[in-house]
Amino acid sequence: MNKAIDYYSFITIEKQMMEKADLSELSFREVLAQYRSSTGEPQTKEIVSLALEKLKASGKEVRIYDSSKQFLGLAVDGIIINNGKPLIFEKNIEKALSGSYAYTVTEDHLLYFATPIQDQYYQNAYVYEFVEDISYFYRIMDQIRYILFAGAGGFIVLITLSSLWIARSTTKPIKLLLGAAQSFSRQEFRRVHLNRKDELGMLADGLDSMGRQLHDYIQYQKQFVSNVSHELKTPLAAIRGFSQYLVEGENENKELQKIYAHLLQESDRLTRLIHELLLLSRFDKAGSNELEVEKTEMNDLIQQVTASVGAKAKSKGIEIRFREAVAGEMLLTKIYACVNPMLMSHAIANLVDNAIKYSSSPSLIELKLEHTPSEVVIRICDQGIGIAGDELERVQERFYRAKNASTANGSGLGLSICKEIVERFNGYIDMESEIWEGTTVTIVLPRA
Ligand SMILES: Nc1ncnc2c1ncn2[C@@H]1O[C@H](COP(=O)(O)OP(=O)(O)O)[C@@H](O)[C@H]1O
Ligand SMILES: [Mg+2]
Repeated sequence: MNKAIDYYSFITIEKQMMEKADLSELSFREVLAQYRSSTGEPQTKEIVSLALEKLKASGKEVRIYDSSKQFLGLAVDGIIINNGKPLIFEKNIEKALSGSYAYTVTEDHLLYFATPIQDQYYQNAYVYEFVEDISYFYRIMDQIRYILFAGAGGFIVLITLSSLWIARSTTKPIKLLLGAAQSFSRQEFRRVHLNRKDELGMLADGLDSMGRQLHDYIQYQKQFVSNVSHELKTPLAAIRGFSQYLVEGENENKELQKIYAHLLQESDRLTRLIHELLLLSRFDKAGSNELEVEKTEMNDLIQQVTASVGAKAKSKGIEIRFREAVAGEMLLTKIYACVNPMLMSHAIANLVDNAIKYSSSPSLIELKLEHTPSEVVIRICDQGIGIAGDELERVQERFYRAKNASTANGSGLGLSICKEIVERFNGYIDMESEIWEGTTVTIVLPRA
């Protein structure tokens, strides 16, 4: 850019100087013609002094040379000087004598411009040279440069700021939409709104209405399951009661007795499923503060659970062992957590029930109660069939049953209920498993 400025400025100044030189040449030739018409043979000395007289004001300095580069006359600041010895750019004079313009600019911004003057035979008889102070021109160029560079700097800053602004104003809403989509996938629905009318705004509105519809649909589904479960509860109780009656009343026909026993068993299974579904729908509806919570001693709670499932385990040839790890100390230390004891026992019983269900005899199920200053940790370790790595994170979903679970009956709801219960008391469930080796389920609760 700098070079371009220099180049075009010099073209301009060159043109200006040429025009000026042309005018001066005309005046000079007028003088030559005048001499020819009045006196015949021209007298160099007179010609020079007359030409100088005419052209003395045409530059800061004006010089005249003859065709043998001889210096003939000089005018400085409009005054004719008789015996000056000015600086001579010999090359310029030579070039002028060969018929073209020539100029040089000195360091203090003086322009020496030489131009040939032809006589009546079109010979380059004289050289007219003038000196111009072009420092004003350099000042203008500097100013132009300054304005251009300041402008360019400002432009770059402006472009940077505006691209930053554009990046911010597009990435921010996209992040917001992404966050909304992620929480939708966790079934956490919230309103999405962007205060803009462009495509992003439309996308936000679309996402918002999708979220609302999904939310309504899931609510509807849960409500439906809850209503159906309620409706089934009473007839199922009747079926179970009658089955029980039939089983007890039939003493002779073994075949019938077997059928009635099966009926009773299946209605028991259905009752359990309905019970689990109702429990889940209760969680879906209830806010966390609707549950009654009390400070509960966890050793006692686990002891009660092991006692209640002990018979079932024994009948399957499975041993349940509680607190072997830190024997002695555990009896002394009371470990409390803020839970609803009924629900918490239900959750632990459910996990122990799984451990029994998915183990084959003989094997051992160990329950451990550990604690840190802030947490209560309950572990249920079995030596059962285990869960494959890719299924481990899915088994806590409602109705999900692992591929190798077909050995035992179940609805796939137990773990999701446990998860809901533990999360209600601000805890979480962690599972580790090795297929065909065993499973360890860990409940972590805040200590009270
Ligand atoms: N202790 C365990 N050992 C092996 N697999 C288990 C264990 N506990 C749970 N699972 C797997 O997780 C699935 C979900 O468990 P759960 O929700 O209790 O349903 P289910 O009614 O099948 O017991 C089970 O079907 C089973 O595949
Ligand atoms: Mg289960």
